[in-house]
Amino acid sequence: MRRPIVAANWKMHHTVGEAQRYLHRLLELVPADPPLDLVVLPSATSIQATAQSLAQTPIAWGAQSARPEPEGPFTGELSVRQVCELGASYVICGHSERRALFNEDDKLVSRMVKAALESDLVPIMCVGESLEQRRAGTDWQVGEKQLDVGLSQIEEQESARIVIAYEPVWAIGTGVAAQPEDAQQMAGRIRTWLGNRFGASGERIRIQYGGSVKPDNAQQFLELANVDGALVGGASLDPDSFWQIAQAAVR
Ligand code: PGA
Repeated sequence: MRRPIVAANWKMHHTVGEAQRYLHRLLELVPADPPLDLVVLPSATSIQATAQSLAQTPIAWGAQSARPEPEGPFTGELSVRQVCELGASYVICGHSERRALFNEDDKLVSRMVKAALESDLVPIMCVGESLEQRRAGTDWQVGEKQLDVGLSQIEEQESARIVIAYEPVWAIGTGVAAQPEDAQQMAGRIRTWLGNRFGASGERIRIQYGGSVKPDNAQQFLELANVDGALVGGASLDPDSFWQIAQAAVR
């Protein structure tokens, strides 16, 4: 059995005060020993406050992105080493917004995933096709290449800790979620790929669906056989809505 994992990607939202109020409310909602992994991914300015608010709680936190280099001339960036110092447990690698806006390619994503694992962070590696790629029927080709290159440096014995987020680009922030059958098909293909690449460990890797997940549609994704959780953007910005989605992940 894979433990469900639901993550809140705040993107560039919430001031420090807003983050603290959010986490205060979330901690009122979440029981001491929730039956799933809950992860909050704040923006950089709220990392410190998040680390403090979530210390000794059942909720983990992570970074929305982190460079693999320990330090260097990367204006505006954070390194895996820096977020580890503050106590991060997770890091998103290759979110489609980073791929599109900051030219992150599969090779860089593969270095991020490797650096994350070497530092004991859980990488949440995002894969997913654009609308043009889906219409052209190349959605799986795209996903397969992202997996091939993104996980090219990963050994079988470290692979079980990875999380894969299937996020069709056209469903992110648009209010138009994928059809559950499409998510099911892609998650199934990803699961088969993981099994071929990592053997039995591939069964232990968790797959999330992401893209316009909300409290009223979460159940239809989270009940799918190969979907073990969700990566939530817009609907995670409210703690009550995020917790409602998280509860749908528990079968
Ligand atoms: P969304 O974002 O839930 O707002 O579509 C998901 C994501 O970008 O991870």
